[in-house]
Amino acid sequence: MILLDGKKISEEIKNEIKTSVENLVINKKRPPHLAAILVGDDGASLTYIGNKIRSCDQVGFKSSLFRYDSNISEIDLIKKINDLNLDIEIDGFIVQLPLPKHINEQKVLLSINPDKDVDGFHPTNFGKMALGLKSFVPATPYGIMKLIEKYDIQTEGKSCLVVGRSNIVGRPMSILMSLRGRYGNSTVTLAHSKSKNLTELTLNADIIVMALGIPEFLKSDMVKKDSTIIDVGITRVEDKSQKRGYAIKGDVDFESVSKKVKFLTPVPGGVGPMTIAMLLQNTLDARLLSLS
Ligand code: GUN
Repeated sequence: MILLDGKKISEEIKNEIKTSVENLVINKKRPPHLAAILVGDDGASLTYIGNKIRSCDQVGFKSSLFRYDSNISEIDLIKKINDLNLDIEIDGFIVQLPLPKHINEQKVLLSINPDKDVDGFHPTNFGKMALGLKSFVPATPYGIMKLIEKYDIQTEGKSCLVVGRSNIVGRPMSILMSLRGRYGNSTVTLAHSKSKNLTELTLNADIIVMALGIPEFLKSDMVKKDSTIIDVGITRVEDKSQKRGYAIKGDVDFESVSKKVKFLTPVPGGVGPMTIAMLLQNTLDARLLSLS
């Protein structure tokens, strides 16, 4: 089994980004600036945002965090987004999801200027991606495609099963794998909570992307020998033996599945760090686009 080392590959990508930033600064241009909006105090969201900001420091980006109480109104949130849309010092920004229930997520995402939408969630970017045009690609699927490319995993004509149809991961992933290209051209099935006979689907798949959110769901008797398994799951599971009180578990039973398949991402250290690296890549691209 070959481990898809997202930690290592993401460090390589971040080093390339850092060099690009150094070149900008040498040429008297300001470094890229990423802003993030965080509403409420969800523990997982705080961790993700903290990691994103630390990574900005690591590559020489400027970053800004705007935090709001969970009772902020939709109108006030959209006002803040409009400010960021117009701020020429900010190249890209993200609104950390999920948002509180009283805020319409689609309305919020629609209010982001597509040229600053480094998450790639705006319909303009999503539509361009689906058409195979240049766009900001959502960071998690983008990171998975990079891993597939770096390890030269063969995708053409292969059966690829994506489990989970979220707008952030599953659906864009299913589109990217079906697009024309060296690391596309797969025959894609998108499974979800209403799918029947999931084990039949997983057993037939050459490539499985698990984005279900159920810890250790995929067992070795559900996968094909020598297949490729990408684990997007990151669920906090209570674990009193750990100082922080929880352990992070993927959607794949790593112990057993690793004995049967050809390529597998670990959790942590697989898809997670790639997501952050690709968000930085999108932000660098936004900065370079503003200069061109
Ligand atoms: N929540 C979970 N993943 C993401 C992400 O990639 N971007 C944003 N904005 N929110 C998220």
